[in-house]
Amino acid sequence: MRLENRIAVVTGAGSGIGREIARAFAVEGATLAVTDINAASAKETVLELPGSGHQAFANDVSSGPSVVETFAAIDAAFGRVDILVNNAGVDHTPGDGREYMLEPGQVIVHMTDEGFTRMMEINVNGVFFCLREAVKLMQREGNAGAIVNMSSIAGLSAHGTLHYAAAKSAVLGITRAAARELGPCGIRVNAICPGVIDTPMTAGVPDAALKPLIGATPLGRTGKPDDIAMAAVYLASDESSFVTGQWLSPNGGLIMC
Ligand SMILES: NC(=O)c1ccc[n+]([C@@H]2O[C@H](COP(=O)([O-])OP(=O)(O)OC[C@H]3O[C@@H](n4cnc5c(N)ncnc54)[C@H](O)[C@@H]3O)[C@@H](O)[C@H]2O)c1
Repeated sequence: MRLENRIAVVTGAGSGIGREIARAFAVEGATLAVTDINAASAKETVLELPGSGHQAFANDVSSGPSVVETFAAIDAAFGRVDILVNNAGVDHTPGDGREYMLEPGQVIVHMTDEGFTRMMEINVNGVFFCLREAVKLMQREGNAGAIVNMSSIAGLSAHGTLHYAAAKSAVLGITRAAARELGPCGIRVNAICPGVIDTPMTAGVPDAALKPLIGATPLGRTGKPDDIAMAAVYLASDESSFVTGQWLSPNGGLIMC
């Protein structure tokens, strides 16, 4: 098993990609700290995981104090952290003009300060807060660890709304800066840039927006959460021990770069 005896924190693991990553990690022998803003869904994930010892934690990644408190609880429960997957995220926020997504030129002008800021709070600040707290524990336990940040094809090319693209590009910047600083400490930091994946997040995307994307995908389908989970297992495990500051994009060929 590729993650035996590892303690892994997965944020946003009450749904979609995060839940599948938690499952794949548990299959590979890891013990999971399943965190989500939705405490009930985090508990449901724990009940689905193979193996024992997994625990659920309620955590709002956009709140610094909430993240500090959650990692203190994880430390108290497990005594260390070996792997962090910064997966929690949203693709829209109240006041982001999303209702105009099929009308050319209308999303940006209808995006409010609050809609933009909330996106940054969850998708960017959240990655920073969790990474910082995980690194403190990784450094305390002998300077080793693997961090995987969830970006998107929106961070690589012209997909997604302005605030989502900005946030997911920032996640790649965080990944590279952290990889450079933490490499000498034995902590690897990489990113995954998923294409269009079947999860509750994309269930709300109108067919008129989704169909052209599938049409432009050489593999002719949307991805499954498992397609991303397998990439996360690779980046979290020793199989990628010489890989840091990189991104991997399971996207069916929708973008190639
Ligand atoms: N589904 C896709 O097509 C796709 C593509 C590219 C990137 N992504 C990224 O993958 C990640 C997972 O997305 P998904 O498709 O599984 O979505 P999802 O909506 O199914 O799951 C997201 C999870 O994050 C949690 N969450 C939201 N806000 C939170 C907060 N403030 N604190 C803690 N948890 C919070 C939600 O409760 C939910 O459980 C996200 O970062 C998303 O941007 C998804």
